[in-house]
Amino acid sequence: MDTTAVRLTAVRRVYRDVTALDGVDLDFRAGTFTAVMGPSGSGKSTLLQCAAGLDRPTSGVVEIGGTPLTGLSERRLTLLRRERIGFVFQAFNLMPSLTAAQNVALPLRLAGRRPSKGEIREALGRVGLEGRAGHRPGELSGGQQQRVALARALITRPTVLFGDEPTGALDTETGAQVLSMVRELVDRDGQTVVMVTHDPVVAEYADRLVRLVDGRVVSSC
Ligand SMILES: Nc1ncnc2c1ncn2[C@@H]1O[C@H](COP(=O)(O)OP(=O)(O)OP(=O)(O)O)[C@@H](O)[C@H]1O
Ligand SMILES: [Mg+2]
Repeated sequence: MDTTAVRLTAVRRVYRDVTALDGVDLDFRAGTFTAVMGPSGSGKSTLLQCAAGLDRPTSGVVEIGGTPLTGLSERRLTLLRRERIGFVFQAFNLMPSLTAAQNVALPLRLAGRRPSKGEIREALGRVGLEGRAGHRPGELSGGQQQRVALARALITRPTVLFGDEPTGALDTETGAQVLSMVRELVDRDGQTVVMVTHDPVVAEYADRLVRLVDGRVVSSC
């Protein structure tokens, strides 16, 4: 398989006098795991936000699954994000009063669907948490909480899963477990993953490493 899941062409993002992204061209191939690294302030989070349609570039084009985001109305963009993008963050951002199953069901409910029990069980099963459906985040370890967040991000079968330092709040061993899980999602399900990280270990799990400095791609291998 050699199709492009996400393509950025000449993407610039300027905040007042700060050029966060300075002409980025990147293709993320379907079914691959890319790690994005670079110093603090180099534009990693901005890159992810633009690629995920959470932020609009000042100029340039982002395409997701062949659809250019430029020119989409906010409503269309929201729908596309909901259906095609999964996002996990350093802070897991789970709803503390909801069970794991209810957290995972949330994106489908927001989309106006009533998820079946089987669908939720299957999503939790993919991250090895089938036995924890009734547990609330406070009753789960950090790694388990991040796996619930992964299951929630993947329930819509997104074209691409973005992560902004998703292992940043985890200890080394727990982080490694989450990374193995992500690797498995790529190998087994053909999931496309783009993950920003400060952790050089992440690169060992990835197919490709993209380095950013001052808003430009300085190496990609
Ligand atoms: N909303 C904003 N308003 C103004 N400037 C911003 C905004 N968001 C980011 N920036 C600036 O853009 C540059 C890139 O920021 P970004 O958050 O993308 O960096 P990063 O590589 O993710 O850094 P870190 O590793 O610290 O998370 C920085 O100089 C930052 O100050
Ligand atoms: Mg950042």
